[in-house]
Amino acid sequence: MTDGSRGRLIALEGIDGCGKSTQAQMLAIRLGALLTFEPGATTLGRSLRHLLLDPDLPPLTERAEALLMAADRAQHVAEEVGPTLETGRWVVTDRFSGSTLAYQGYGRGMDVSELGRLVAWATGGLRPDLTVLIDVPVALAKGRLAGGRDDRFEALGTPFFERVADGFRRLATGDPETWVVVDGIGDIDGIAKIVWAAVRERLGERAGG
Ligand code: ADP
Ligand code: TYD
Repeated sequence: MTDGSRGRLIALEGIDGCGKSTQAQMLAIRLGALLTFEPGATTLGRSLRHLLLDPDLPPLTERAEALLMAADRAQHVAEEVGPTLETGRWVVTDRFSGSTLAYQGYGRGMDVSELGRLVAWATGGLRPDLTVLIDVPVALAKGRLAGGRDDRFEALGTPFFERVADGFRRLATGDPETWVVVDGIGDIDGIAKIVWAAVRERLGERAGG
């Protein structure tokens, strides 16, 4: 399939509770795109997600955590994202490689350029055509998640999430061609309009004609 008929890949990124799942769902419906997510969208991924998020499991080393995220993404790309793009259909994913760079890199403190090589290897070089960062203050995101029991990441404190949020902003600033930052503070429909406008502007006529 030529590049022109391949579908486009759009990733929604941001800290837990920023509202990216809500926006990913609305965008996918609007585009008629496949909606997917990481970690956990494949059969292997469901087991990996359990290992990665369960706060009661024994601690993972940082390298093991990064490799499990990469394994989830490799399977996701091979089984679902890649084949769907090949058919010409667009894909909207709730998290992709940017999450590894932000959480394991800026959050955990692992080397971001080494992780860049890891994610490139895991994906076979597949990169999103556009990554939309939903940017909100950490306290607001935490407030939106209040209620259920925290998973292994949500249980990490505010300083961790400040590093991750700042890391996402750096990734966006460093790659303005493929990242766009959307203020996630407002109401859901208003944010969806801004996301849609960014997709139209960056990916052109094919986004909804
Ligand atoms: P994420 O996927 O980033 O963790 P979600 O989309 O699941 O975030 O949203 C977390 C919670 O906040 C959900 O209960 C959702 O309904 C709510 N929410 C999402 N966007 C907004 C918004 N713009 N304003 C208020 N609440 C929101
Ligand atoms: P999830 O519940 O899917 O995210 P959210 O709460 O934002 O809806 O949880 C996935 C968690 O895994 C989230 O805390 C971010 C983390 N994560 C990484 O640390 N690295 C990664 O590469 C990915 C994809 C996720």
